[in-house]
Amino acid sequence: MDKNQIKKRIATLRHELEEHNYRYYVLNAPVISDFDFDMRMRELMQLEAENPEFSDSNSPTQRVGSDINREFVQVAHKYPMLSLSNSYSEGEVADFDQRIRKLTSTPFEYVCELKYDGTSISLTYEQGRLVRAVTRGDGEKGDDVTENIKTIRSIPLVLRGNNYPPEFEIRGEILLPFSVFEEINQQREKNGEALFANPRNAAAGTLKLQNSSIVASRKLDAYFYFLLGDNLPYDTHYDNLQKAREWGFKISEHMQKCTKLEEVFVFLKKWDIDRKNLPVATDGVVLKVNSLPLQQELGFTAKSPRWAIAYKFKAERVVTRLISIDYQVGRTGAVTPVANLEPVQLAGTTVKRASLHNSDIIQGLDLHNNDMLYVEKGGEIIPKIIGVDFSQRQSDATKVTFIPECPECKTPLVRSEGEAAYYCPNDTGCPPQIKGRIEHFISRKAMNIDGLGEETVDLLFDQRLIHDAADLYKLEKEQLVPLERMGEKSAERILKSLDDSKNVPFERVLFALGIRFVGETVAKKLASAMGSIDAIREASYETLISIGEIGDKIANSILEYFNNPAHIEIIEHLRSQGIQFESVKISSESQSDKLKGLSIIISGTFAKHSRDELKALIEKHGGKNVSSISKNTSYLLAGENIGPSKMQKVVDLNIPILSEDEFLKLIGE
Ligand code: IVH
Repeated sequence: MDKNQIKKRIATLRHELEEHNYRYYVLNAPVISDFDFDMRMRELMQLEAENPEFSDSNSPTQRVGSDINREFVQVAHKYPMLSLSNSYSEGEVADFDQRIRKLTSTPFEYVCELKYDGTSISLTYEQGRLVRAVTRGDGEKGDDVTENIKTIRSIPLVLRGNNYPPEFEIRGEILLPFSVFEEINQQREKNGEALFANPRNAAAGTLKLQNSSIVASRKLDAYFYFLLGDNLPYDTHYDNLQKAREWGFKISEHMQKCTKLEEVFVFLKKWDIDRKNLPVATDGVVLKVNSLPLQQELGFTAKSPRWAIAYKFKAERVVTRLISIDYQVGRTGAVTPVANLEPVQLAGTTVKRASLHNSDIIQGLDLHNNDMLYVEKGGEIIPKIIGVDFSQRQSDATKVTFIPECPECKTPLVRSEGEAAYYCPNDTGCPPQIKGRIEHFISRKAMNIDGLGEETVDLLFDQRLIHDAADLYKLEKEQLVPLERMGEKSAERILKSLDDSKNVPFERVLFALGIRFVGETVAKKLASAMGSIDAIREASYETLISIGEIGDKIANSILEYFNNPAHIEIIEHLRSQGIQFESVKISSESQSDKLKGLSIIISGTFAKHSRDELKALIEKHGGKNVSSISKNTSYLLAGENIGPSKMQKVVDLNIPILSEDEFLKLIGE
């Protein structure tokens, strides 16, 4: 094929593939097999790869996502993304209707729509092409998630037909269908990962993933319900949305025009029941004035339009039987009771388990074995046990009593005064506690060991290769490679990362130890006040509580931690491996003026030094550490995880960026 033919073939394939996407994802009516679709996609990918001059960011091949990591840039909304005022009864809807009738004398109609319970998005189209997708954010500005949105096949990248305004925004809801949600959670449960509480959280979380190829695999969907722009085709909301459907958007089939309030109530009643058969979550109905001129006349309050209101469905409730109670032991040794329930459908998902939180809740419910329980689920929450149907309790039912021993290691449980939870005190011998602590030790904000996850820690522990965090540093490549799903490369990556972690600053090491109540902030305070693990170990109660933010509870927990010889042993092992147990002392002596006259802002987290240490280094070399960005800032000293808005500001002001290594080189440390 010559270049011209290639160009034509590419255009044909793109057009065909988008057409099939539309038929499959929007109309639910595919006309070719998945295999044929894949063959065409593969041909297009190959042609594009071989002829990069014909690449196009809106080609169907761009929907597969990429694994490039990036932070999101914040973008201001052209029109703020407002919320709706809520109502919970027919009476409140009638009040809304009265308010409008007071403001206008012209007859009007409403459009009733489903209120989809996902995460909202605003798409901008220019000349029929998707140019930007922004999350709601704070309503004024949100995150630019265009690359992730492109992976959603039911969203048109290029519009159909040609009678759309040259520029407009369309708003809608990104949703994760119940079926996909359950699949993802089953997978997460298998992997021992935390479950998503509901499809909405899962959709919002997915949209914020940095890796768009994972987003592509999550099968998100989207419904659109609001068109904004200067040259909309009609002057009614309903007709505009019908038109948007022709352009390729997925618009709900369940919209209805109503002139009388009675018709509205019929719609509310119908959908309170029928929504249970929908593939996606809904949490109410939205009532909108149909006429755009009337909408304009009614206007907005500070937070929401006067021409629309949401009616929220009541939380769904079912009754189901308590089968048994599992007791789960967490990293801190706290024991959480979880009820196993007879599986029951509730708000679109199957409920089999629900947390009972602690023994006080069990007492409060006066829970008996075999009880029939009321389980409720609103939009926001995971299933909640709200009561017992006493009328169904058998007369010989026995009371549920909290287990006296740890289910994992059989140590008698203890309960401290004033605390709701029972604890297993065997923290150095109880497997879930040990594994949990190692997982905490390697986590990103602690030692940040790349390539080691929960699953590998489990394997290593079960095969007796590790028993505490210090053992990680004794691992050898030959021990790692034979593990399931491990290869030479992954093993090398883990070992390198372990080696690199010997540079992790003391404050993060202190956090990594997992001392109860010593979180990131407390660890920072402790490290900068005391300077070394030995000083903390020797500190008295009085010394500890004299440090800001450290009170009685934390001080006692620290004393208790260092009283345990097993902990001292781990610390000594880690120390002998080269882990940092002292803050790096930046002596004020050897002053230089390498940074004289420079204002440097520090942002993010760093591998080799704490922020306090970096600040001291800047000052030692004659520079000034500043806390806010302006055009007079000389450098950004950038670590990992800098917020997108800060980054944007730095880019806008053209401020040069230094990595930690570049900075250290600059000052010759
Ligand atoms: S209209 C200016 N219609 O509900 C009002 N919103 O509390 C624009 N939502 O942020 C919103 N379904 O995420 C509208 N059919 C629907 C909706 C809907 C769900 C969400 C949306 C919005 C929130 C308002």
